[in-house]
Parts: sequence; structure tokens; C-alpha cells
Amino acid sequence: MSHRSPQVRSHLAQLPGYAPVVPLAERARLAGLDPGDCLKLDANENPYGMHPRVRDALQAALAEPNFGSIYPDPNQTVLREALSRYTGVDPAMIVAGAGADELLDLSLRALLSPGSSIMTCPPTFGMYPFLADLNELNLIEIPRRDGFALPAAELLESASQAAADTIVILTSPNNPSGELVSSDLLRKLLASGVTVILDEAYIEFAGLEASASLLLTEFPRLVIMRTFSKWAGIAGLRLGYALACADLITDLIKVKQPYNINQAAEVAGVAAINAAGEIGEQIDAIRQTRDALYDALLSTDGLSPLPSESNFILVGVDAAVGSGQQLHDRLAAVGVFTRTYSDPALASYLRISMPRADQLDALIDRLNSVL
Ligand SMILES: Cc1ncc(COP(=O)(O)O)c(C=O)c1O
Repeated sequence: MSHRSPQVRSHLAQLPGYAPVVPLAERARLAGLDPGDCLKLDANENPYGMHPRVRDALQAALAEPNFGSIYPDPNQTVLREALSRYTGVDPAMIVAGAGADELLDLSLRALLSPGSSIMTCPPTFGMYPFLADLNELNLIEIPRRDGFALPAAELLESASQAAADTIVILTSPNNPSGELVSSDLLRKLLASGVTVILDEAYIEFAGLEASASLLLTEFPRLVIMRTFSKWAGIAGLRLGYALACADLITDLIKVKQPYNINQAAEVAGVAAINAAGEIGEQIDAIRQTRDALYDALLSTDGLSPLPSESNFILVGVDAAVGSGQQLHDRLAAVGVFTRTYSDPALASYLRISMPRADQLDALIDRLNSVL
């Protein structure tokens, strides 16, 4: 018998791992600043935080005798009905997960075997290559064009030639470049017979009318991912959901962890849906801040913001200013925490999540102070 520690499977041992955001308290400590004086603009959370109506619902739930002491509903009945009201999609076509991340992982594991492929268009969300690594999937990358436009013709060509066990993952709006996937491209991809996972984590900031959810009844190979982390201000409670044809949802419910949604997330999710009108006012404010910040960045020497349909802006940084990482570090030193990337295509960029409207002037002042 060996007395060495157990070894993880060899393909896992070699993985670089996902680069998650560093907690605010840690970033503030490194900068020698009070967290209360810092702007956390690195993870696209809702800067207004949890809505008071969601907080009230959680407080009311805490007062109930069984809250937290019994298992949550494995069928997510109440939550799926609320999600149906919110999305207009039949509850039989909805499953919730501990964040969209869980459902991306679950869907890939349920639909693909090791050796199958996912096709993505980088730069995009870093979770997809991580999940490919984790699940021993090949990663076929069709890079975006200059300006990060989707390479539509190339993608269609590659998807039509791909093996049957290939899933295309697109992000609308894309993280980090902020633009929507056109419904024309999506329709053509789906018409070619390929399975498409469309990640709509940020769709509320483009407007729900920009969602592809109306295509679900027409195309059984479309799977849409959504989350409460961005618009609803409950990233820490971990709640997302997938929309897909009822047969696939039935199978995903069968193979998911039975109690994957904790009771607090369930209560908060239903409350957020009930308060969607009020949270919509926060979304409007975030969109206005985005447009104001875009204009301010556009008129700043050395910076080139990309138009965004989301709650963040990707900013090109001129060489005269420094690299994206250098500007990121200078901003961090004055308590503005942004996001940079190891991808060489993004070396001269940084991504800024929207602050609250009342923090915009402070952001612009601190930015100007380090340029
Ligand atoms: C495109 C995209 N999809 C999914 C997620 C993760 O969502 P969740 O917090 O629901 O796991 C993120 C978070 O950054 C994201 O940017």
C-alpha cells in the first residue's frame, strides 16, 4: 500500500485551473486601502447590490420554522414557475442550477463524452476552456475578427463540417467584448443541425427582447443559459438557469445533483422575479452609466472603449499609456479594481464593470489621475 497522497486523474493534475476574481477585502489589503473606499469593477456584479425586496424576502424566510433545516425541492417547482413567468418559457423547459456555471458544466457532461468537442469564438468567457479541460473535451477555437466581431462565415463553415458530437458555445452579449449574437447567425447555425449553447448571462442589460428564447420552440438543439448573478445582485447566492426543449430538461433534472439549489437562493430568486420591475430601474441606471462612461472614455486620450450591450466596457489601451495590465495595476493602487486577461489578444485591453451612478465621477477622476 502506498502512503503517498491520493493523486487526481492525470489530465486534471496538469490543468492550469480557472482564474477567479480575488475577493474585495484581499484586493483592498494588497492596495493598503479601506474596502469601503474601493470600486470593485472586476466581476460584472450589480453595483447596487441585493434589492431591498429580495433582502426582505430572505429575512421573512429566516423566520419560518423549517427554513434551512430541511432539504430544498429537487424539482424546483416554485422557482421554475416563477422563472416561467419571468421568461415566458414553459416550466417544463427550465432547470435551475447553482449559477450558470453549474449548468454549463452539467450540460457538457450530460451531452458530450471525453474526446467530443466544443467550438467557441475567443476572446470570450474563460469558463468554457476550463470546462473543456475538466471534461476532457477538445476545444475548437474560431477567433473573432479585428474589433472582436464574430467570424460568421468561418463559424458556419466549421460548424457544418464538425463532428456530430460538437457543441457550439456563443455568448450574447459576449464577455468581454459586449456585443450581441445576431439572430440571423444563430438561426443559420441551428438550421445546420448543430447544438448551440447560447450564454445570455448579461441579456438583461441589452433588453430581454434581445433574447433568443423565442427560438426555443423552433429549434430543439438550442440551449440558453441565464443567471441571477448579474442583473439581480445575488451572485453570492449562486443561481442560474437553463432554457431548452422539455426532453433535454427532463434528462438534465434527472442527472443534476438533487439539491443543487439551496433554499436561500430559491427564496431570493423568486423574490427577484417578483421585484423585477424595481430591479429594472437599477438596470436602466446601469445602462445610463455605461453610456456616460463610454462617452467619457471615448474622449480620453489613449483609451478606446468598445460599444457594449452589457454591464461592462472593454477598453483598448494605447501603447503610450502602457499595457492593459499596467493600467489595471495603476488603477488598483488607487482602489479601482478592474479585470485583465492572460490572452495575448487582450494584452492591450482592460474590462471595467459599471459602478453605481453616484460612483461614476470618482471612477473618471481616479482614471484621469493615473493616465
Ligand atoms: C458569460 C458568462 N456566463 C456565465 C457566467 C457565470 O454566471 P453564474 O454566476 O450564474 O455562474 C459569467 C460570469 O462572469 C459570464 O460572464
